[in-house]
Formats: sequence, C-alpha cells, structure tokens
Amino acid sequence: MNDPSTEGARSGDGRTIKLAAIGDLHVSENGENQFRDVFAEMSDAADVAALCGDLTNFGKVREAELLAEDLRSLTIPTVAVLGNHDVEAGQTEEVLRILAQAGVTMLDEQAVVLAGVGFAGVKGFLGGFGRGELGAFGEDAIKAFVDEARNEARKLENALRSLRTERVVAVLHYAPVVDTVEGEPLEIYPFLGSSRLADAIDRFDNVKAVVHGHAHRGRYQGATPRGAPVYNCARFVVEEALGRPYALLEI
Ligand SMILES: [Fe+2]
Ligand SMILES: [Fe+2]
Repeated sequence: MNDPSTEGARSGDGRTIKLAAIGDLHVSENGENQFRDVFAEMSDAADVAALCGDLTNFGKVREAELLAEDLRSLTIPTVAVLGNHDVEAGQTEEVLRILAQAGVTMLDEQAVVLAGVGFAGVKGFLGGFGRGELGAFGEDAIKAFVDEARNEARKLENALRSLRTERVVAVLHYAPVVDTVEGEPLEIYPFLGSSRLADAIDRFDNVKAVVHGHAHRGRYQGATPRGAPVYNCARFVVEEALGRPYALLEI
C-alpha cells in the first residue's frame, strides 16, 4: 500500500496501525482459493496481518501448499502461530517451511517488530481458566500436560519481554481468558485455553491487544484480568460479530 496516510504508521513513528486478524481457516485439500479474496481485502484494509492458528485442517503438506497459493494475495507483513490442527499430521516442520516460504513470519519464542508495533506469539495450550485450571498434581501424565501449558506461557512471556516497543500485540491460538470462549459448551471450556497465557500477558503494560482463535463458537471480545483487550478471531466468531471473517483492530 502506498497510501500516504499509512506511511507514518508503517515507519513506526507512534501513529496507530491497522491490524487484520483471522484464525481457524482450516484449509482442506479440496478448499482451493477459499481465502484469496479475503486476503486481498485484508491487504487493502490493514498494515499488518495476524493468522491465529488452525490454518490447515489436518496439518498436511498439501493443505499448507494450497494456503500458500492464497497467501500470494496477502501482500502486507504477516505474522502467524500454528493451531492444534496444524500439528495433527506430524508434518509440522514441512508446514512451517511452506508458510515461511510464503512470506509469513511464524511467531514462537521469537518476537518481531512491524510498523513500530511488537508482535509476540505462541500456539498456547489448554488446561482451563481461573479456579478451574488444572494443577500439576498426581499422575505423571497430568504433570506432563501441565508442563506443556506452562512451557507455552513461558515462551510467550520471554517473547513479550524481548520487545521494547510502546505497543505490543500477543498472537495465540488457544484462548487466554474465559470471556472469549463463552458460547461454547461449558463442558469443553478446559480444552479451549489456559489462564496461564493471560498471566504471562498481564506481566506487561504495553500489550494493547491479544488475538486468538480455536473457540469457534466463542465470543468476539473480552479482556485479561488486568484489562488487556482480547479478541477471539476464529473466523466463525468474527463473521457472526462483524459480518466478515477477519477482525480489523487499531493498535
Ligand atoms: Fe479451529
Ligand atoms: Fe484449534
């Protein structure tokens, strides 16, 4: 975009930028070019794009290749995290390579600054929220499970700590708060995210927005305990809330 009104934002002089965020694309082997037009629209509307995981349906190489074709129409700087669906087939390294080749910056431990705004992200993990959070007690399998949740939160915290920008966006797949999973069946809340992610985010004052996916039937907007705005950008949720599949946020 060469629009002079966005030049300042792009050079990171403190003016707000527009972020287009979408999650849960679930690109399948028979879903050719499903997102080409959406990506073109996002490129016109925003300065930076964030993809919030479940980019493919089963994490298959063919699905990632089809997504990469559509990504040619996403012409703005783009960050992404994987979702649980993207690791299902055990072809994660290949999927990551294809996405990187398509120009996407995969966030995981490594943060990035785009248009003056910092982006930190991880897939995250599940385990529940608040008083319902699963603790590391008893069986080894439970301890390993909780370790995974803690490890994702620790990676997010480290990435956030590495950023010195005034404004930061956290990009996740799993939900960090219960607010944005409301609407899903109560029985599956513990499988939709983890408060440990919000604990990491709330250690910092510069997180201006948190975007995530995974909860297809959740709520669009919420906040962390310390007030960082949280947006469930699963495309089904955004479509329902805004009448288009991506969120457009001023950061
Ligand atoms: Fe999903
Ligand atoms: Fe998911």
